[in-house]
Amino acid sequence: MRIAVFSSKPYDRDTLTAANAAHGHELQFFEAGLSVETCSLAEEAEAVCVFVNDKVDARLLRCMAGRGVKTVALRCAGFNNVDLPAAKELGLSVVRVPAYSPYAVAEHAVALMLTLNRKTHRAYNRVREGNFALNGLLGFDLHGKTAGIIGTGRIGAVLAKIMTGFGCTVLAADVYQNPACLALGVSYVERETLLKESDIISLHCPLTPETHHLINKESIALLKRGMMLINTGRGALVDTKAIITGLKSGQIGALGMDVYEQEEGVFFEDHSNEIIQDDSLERLLTFPNVLITSHQGYFTREALSAIAETTLNNLSQLERGEVCPNQL
Ligand code: NAI
Repeated sequence: MRIAVFSSKPYDRDTLTAANAAHGHELQFFEAGLSVETCSLAEEAEAVCVFVNDKVDARLLRCMAGRGVKTVALRCAGFNNVDLPAAKELGLSVVRVPAYSPYAVAEHAVALMLTLNRKTHRAYNRVREGNFALNGLLGFDLHGKTAGIIGTGRIGAVLAKIMTGFGCTVLAADVYQNPACLALGVSYVERETLLKESDIISLHCPLTPETHHLINKESIALLKRGMMLINTGRGALVDTKAIITGLKSGQIGALGMDVYEQEEGVFFEDHSNEIIQDDSLERLLTFPNVLITSHQGYFTREALSAIAETTLNNLSQLERGEVCPNQL
């Protein structure tokens, strides 16, 4: 099958090319994201392969259907960027990679927590400049603290296990109780209770109309003063403006974010020689207690290999006319 791979970086090319040895597809790589303007690049391709920030809306889907594209293959788990009803109407299949490495994202959430808490990012710079003072680096023991996890699916469950290992009490809020978490001693509570009682809150639910801006002005008012918020889920799970107000007032004591509501066109790219126009992002970058990473939670060797393998396998299954369990 001819597959046009959009938003592809050198690491995507390497892993997809290696995995393709077992599938024999014809891969065309494009660094550009998929849009109405770029979809003409998918010359005679039966499938387009896209990533998290390619907005696959109805107009783009119509454009692709008109060019003979039959499948949209997402190289990610979340599918909030695709207009699924429009795809269905046009007869386009959409496949995704529901799981690749929950450890990658859960471990990154912990990296953000530990860095923000013990301020190793600041210590690293300080010591290199000959400043061995500890002022401003005071942290707290994770042991004995309460960690709240919103969304205890694959990633949330791995995080629950890690936090239990630190000696935290783990609270969870989910529409479904994960038996693996219950076995760890995780307590499922109402979201409001979790917001009020947690010292650290980590978001691991999908972005849906119900979870959009679940951290907003009202929910921030319920938080334990000085708590730590970690978002490796999706940017729009939090209302950025409300978060900035919460940070300024001290209600939010630390923020770690790997995703950002307006990350499209900014994250994954080098903008170091430009003036960044997003004032909210720039404001967030001024806080000493905010740590932002550029959607790298998934970025481990193991995860990239699994993404490549599952993506190509999804397309091979569709090509053979088989049922693809990862079809949406
Ligand atoms: P999953 O589908 O295994 O788990 C999601 C959990 O959220 C489920 O238990 C579900 O019941 C729960 N949920 C759904 N609606 C909810 C609500 N209203 N309130 C509370 N819980 C709710 O998904 P997985 O693999 O754990 O991934 C979670 C999210 O992490 C993805 O949707 C994606 O947005 C994000 N993600 C971020 C990555 C990164 O690189 N930063 C990489 C991979 C995923």
